[in-house]
Amino acid sequence: MRTSTFISTLSFVLAVAAGPIVVRDNLISLPLSKKINVTEPGQLLKQDQARAAILRSLGFASGNATAKSELLGRATPGSTSVTNQAVSYIATVEVGTPPSSYSLIVDTGSSNTWVGAETGRAYNVTSSSHFTGNAVEVTYGSGRFVGLEYTDTVSLGTGLTISKQSIGAASFSEGFNGVDGILGLGPVDLTVGTLFPSVTSTIPTVTDNLFSQGDIPADEVAISFEPTTSLNNVNGELTFGGTDSTKFTGAITYAPITMTSTASKYWGIDQSIRYGASTNILSTTAGIVDTGTTLIMIASDAFAAYQAATGGVMDSATGLLKIDVAQFGALQSLFFNIGGTTFELTANAQIWPRALNTNIGGAADGIYLIVGSTGSPSGSGLDFINGMTFLERFYSVFDTANKRVGIANTPFTDATTN
Ligand SMILES: *[C@@H]1O[C@H](CO)[C@@H](O)[C@H](O)[C@H]1NC(C)=O
Ligand SMILES: *[C@@H]1O[C@H](CO)[C@@H](O)[C@H](O)[C@H]1NC(C)=O
Ligand SMILES: *[C@@H]1O[C@H](CO)[C@@H](O)[C@H](O)[C@H]1NC(C)=O
Repeated sequence: MRTSTFISTLSFVLAVAAGPIVVRDNLISLPLSKKINVTEPGQLLKQDQARAAILRSLGFASGNATAKSELLGRATPGSTSVTNQAVSYIATVEVGTPPSSYSLIVDTGSSNTWVGAETGRAYNVTSSSHFTGNAVEVTYGSGRFVGLEYTDTVSLGTGLTISKQSIGAASFSEGFNGVDGILGLGPVDLTVGTLFPSVTSTIPTVTDNLFSQGDIPADEVAISFEPTTSLNNVNGELTFGGTDSTKFTGAITYAPITMTSTASKYWGIDQSIRYGASTNILSTTAGIVDTGTTLIMIASDAFAAYQAATGGVMDSATGLLKIDVAQFGALQSLFFNIGGTTFELTANAQIWPRALNTNIGGAADGIYLIVGSTGSPSGSGLDFINGMTFLERFYSVFDTANKRVGIANTPFTDATTN
């Protein structure tokens, strides 16, 4: 890292000590908030299943228009082509000179960064904008966007600035409401095939550019969330360039990126899941860690085992398994074995926050489980998604240089909040 950067970062700490940006040990942290907007029965599960289907088939960045349109049709049958984003985790990012401020979904499962989803909040061409000559298109489980590709100056809050960051300017998007676009924090290879005319090179992500421009000491990003029982709560933190030791407890366990495709294209790891003392739910298999998925999604056969173990009944209003008070009293922990370490997801962590039941179409006094089925049997190459309900209980690190994902306990792993 350049000395000059270190000095400018230190003075930045002093300058904004009272502001929302936290800089600790020369790392850059961005506050994160959570937004819930469920408007149809079962939307939460439908959105996560549509995303799982797209992820499994590598639909994001295949560059194969036929495959993409087939996927969209399959993922969301009916007259609407997409399911709107039900739950989003949002960071505020500034683009351009002078800057415009955008609320972007933090997505470790895709790697393009773009703005302009909201009507009337298009990308502003400013003095730092440079049109690359390319169009850009990315398909997500919950929508898609088409636009023009620029490079521009991007600031993380009022913090450090990235020059010449690739940024999509949406001319058309669907499936995104109340957000401006996406901050893509996935592996850079997912950007291949998203530009037209096609370029074979990758488009460096925000994290890659912060690193290559000398602003952070390592090409990695770490994510901290806390469980929340209120809407629009700013309780997350995105740390670029390292980890924030105040946000986790004990050691971080690092698991190498899995060898199994297609999980290997994302932040994919191998993991097994057990319920209680000895009930096998999912034998060691490949899946991903993903901030763009809300639930913990597991293969359909694993889900059947979980349903049998918990006694949950499928609830059509929410799309989630519902249990009664006695079943909740008997609910055992789920044990995730990742990289040789066992992480315990308590009974409390397996239920949707009851204070937010009505926000997802549930009954106020219902008890709903946050484990869903991917809709596909195990052996698919992407047999689980550890989504946000997992990441609210465990710290996560996405380490590009060492091709690994880190997981650690947090002060909230065992918390009784729901
Ligand atoms: C594109 O996708 C379609 C449908 O999945 C498939 O039949 C076709 O072979 C793919 N084309 C290429 C070049 O991979
Ligand atoms: C774009 O710039 C105009 C003029 O400065 C401003 O009014 C508008 O809010 C900007 N757009 C965004 C998304 O901030
Ligand atoms: C919620 O989503 C619906 C469409 O599904 C949209 O019309 C509405 O504006 C959204 N509300 C917010 C607050 O984003």
